[in-house]
Amino acid sequence: MNYNIAVIPGDGIGPEIITEAKKVLDRIGENYGHSFQYTEVLMGGVSIDATGVPLTEEALETAKNSDSVLLGAVGGNVGQSNWYNLPPHLRPEAGLLAIRKGLNLFANIRPAVLYDELKGACPLKDEIIGDGFDFVVMRELTGGLYFGARHTTEENGVRKATDTLVYDEKEIKRIARWGFEIAMKRGKKVCSVDKANVLDSSRLWRQVTKEVAKEYPEVELTDMLVDNCAMQLVKNPRQFDVILTENMFGDILSDEASMITGSIGMLASASLGDTKLGLYEPSHGSAPDIAGQNKANPIATILSAAMMLRYSFDLEKEADSIEAAVKAVLKKGYRTVDIMSESMKLVGTREMGELIKAEI
Ligand code: IPM
Ligand code: MG
Repeated sequence: MNYNIAVIPGDGIGPEIITEAKKVLDRIGENYGHSFQYTEVLMGGVSIDATGVPLTEEALETAKNSDSVLLGAVGGNVGQSNWYNLPPHLRPEAGLLAIRKGLNLFANIRPAVLYDELKGACPLKDEIIGDGFDFVVMRELTGGLYFGARHTTEENGVRKATDTLVYDEKEIKRIARWGFEIAMKRGKKVCSVDKANVLDSSRLWRQVTKEVAKEYPEVELTDMLVDNCAMQLVKNPRQFDVILTENMFGDILSDEASMITGSIGMLASASLGDTKLGLYEPSHGSAPDIAGQNKANPIATILSAAMMLRYSFDLEKEADSIEAAVKAVLKKGYRTVDIMSESMKLVGTREMGELIKAEI
């Protein structure tokens, strides 16, 4: 088959890690008889520099017309880059929010897996880690606080800022369905996370999630308050299978989840909607401090490409073979600097990409 992939290298380490992911995809193409066509799309800081906005209409159209989107990372150093002197809607991150909304990608899946080979990098105690953990955070991505009306005013010399958190039941229902669908393919457990002891939006979230649960009698649904969830993630992460939550809670909890794996450079993510078109990106940021130095870990982006094969193209065995290649390379002791430990072999971005490609 022939697949058209919109590729967004973005800023910082984005271009380097995307180059490695493309190498791996091309090897998959050779081995399994697929061809991947890449169309480069500008987004983030590079788009601001070239066009004045973080995502142009044409760029969004190109993404819409593709079979899937692969993204490196966007953004720069907040204290240093001129991008952050611009009004908020013209900054690099606004491009990311706009493409998620523009493609209606309301479901963000962020796996948190503790790799056996990387147990040493996990900051939790051995008795907490046990035989490891493997869960996903299912984050609502196009609603809630990040998309509600906001404004800043000044009255009688007092500055005041307002953000609004809105969810309607349709938005909750569709993300909950995704959560239960994913749970059906995994451990059949959904933990819905909210702040129902305070927020109306959370109380509706809880009710609607319970209603959707009736469609999935095989899945066990539990509710957890977000503050407790933040604690449980470091106390007993093995209890989780699918954490289902709204946009901001998911943003925060998914960073915590990635940290406890000890290797944010390893974690992929997928943003999906009602169609097969998805956006796949590493869970980490653009790491401007190490950009262009051949130091970045390309594995999260390579694993994001694997998720793309699985969720957008239904290429299950091709996705498996990328994941197996990553594990094999780790097993042989190769590490980028972020996951380096004693007696392992330090390699750069390019070498890591080549090694994984060679395993496929
Ligand atoms: C993420 C990021 C973004 C978000 C930022 C850059 C807008 O933190 O993907 O988690 O909050 O969604
Ligand atoms: Mg985040």
